[in-house]
Amino acid sequence: MVDFSLSADQESLRDLARKFARSDMAPHAAECDRTPRFPEEIYRKAYELGLMNLNVPVEFGGSGLKVFEQCLIVEELAHACGGMTTSVIANCLALEPILLGGSPEQQERFLKPFCAEYNFASFGLTEPSGGSDAGGLQTRARREGDHYVLDGEKCFITNAPHASLFTVFATVDPSRRTKGITAFVVPRTARGVSTGKDEEKMGHRASSTSTVRFDGVEVPVNDRLGEEGEGFSIAMRTLDQTRTPIGALATGIAQAALDLAAAYSLKRQSFGKPISEHQAIQIKLANMAQAVHAARLLTWQAAWTIDQGGKGTLESSIAKCFASDSALHVADEAIQTFGGYGYMKEYPVEKLLRDAKLTQIYEGANEIQRTVIARELLRRYA
Ligand code: CAA
Repeated sequence: MVDFSLSADQESLRDLARKFARSDMAPHAAECDRTPRFPEEIYRKAYELGLMNLNVPVEFGGSGLKVFEQCLIVEELAHACGGMTTSVIANCLALEPILLGGSPEQQERFLKPFCAEYNFASFGLTEPSGGSDAGGLQTRARREGDHYVLDGEKCFITNAPHASLFTVFATVDPSRRTKGITAFVVPRTARGVSTGKDEEKMGHRASSTSTVRFDGVEVPVNDRLGEEGEGFSIAMRTLDQTRTPIGALATGIAQAALDLAAAYSLKRQSFGKPISEHQAIQIKLANMAQAVHAARLLTWQAAWTIDQGGKGTLESSIAKCFASDSALHVADEAIQTFGGYGYMKEYPVEKLLRDAKLTQIYEGANEIQRTVIARELLRRYA
């Protein structure tokens, strides 16, 4: 039987995240957005509370949570600040390839020391020549005896300026497209690794984003994840796992927008009564509430599917795509409810729109999600 109630453990995880989000993140969200600032003290506390390496098994020092529990946490954090949440959960994306493609020896060697301390890792897939066409990436990996030599550049890499570890996708032969892509773990200290300047972004400004260059970086064969040519599958399976929490992140932003708009509508007067008494506003709030509920339910269903052992490719793309489109729409309607004040930086709703926008782009643009959804769907009719 389907059951939407949360267990006592799930309730307490959500409470922990909500308390941290409201008391530690929310009070600094506007300032970190404006400055912008990467709030190390907040991220360190998130690590100490076990809110950072959510998907890493407890035996390696992570929190060992299923995707559903990750989503409960991520929604709460994103209600306070989408940008901080992106930085808090980026380790999950970066470490998932090690969980999926690493040998037991590699998992022990990379994950244990990493999780034992406050650290950031970054996922290096996207390149300047094209993010959506992951199979066309150009970073080269040339085998020379017992090591590979990596040359190339990655872009839009979350937390890269702060990362001590990178999971990197490179090709041993570009003519083989997806079949040449190979995954590696590269420490920041490796000679030839460098990061670019912090990008000036529209939203998620508490998060840090930059390019990463690999100039003749020597990577031992022992640090290759899986076999040569397995990297594309590792990257796609990673995104199957992590797109659902992005649905939760978008849902958190949308819920925050709805909360602010509803509360404001009860206070703001026009035509001699609170605007909440005008049907135009009631219809807006009702539509916003429907979008938030549907986004959460699709996210929960995708998480449930993966936690039951399903692949979740279709469900995670549906959840990510619907929740992020909903977040943008709900944030837009929240601004409309606030009227002119909503457009002012003094009020918190315009930030939600800027933060919501990225959820339609990262971890696969929504056009790619629709491609994935259509492919999965049509396969069932073929
Ligand atoms: N799981 C396992 N294998 C998969 C898979 C999946 N989900 N999806 C595809 N594959 C396999 C296919 O079965 C196929 O295998 P065979 O050749 O053996 O049949 C192989 O991979 C190639 O697949 P496609 O032919 O479908 O490949 P494609 O070139 O047409 O591309 C794509 C598919 C879905 C468009 C893919 O390129 C894609 O997902 N692009 C978007 C990339 C993306 O999401 N980037 C985000 C980066 S992370 C980020 O934004 C992070 C941040 O910092 C916050």
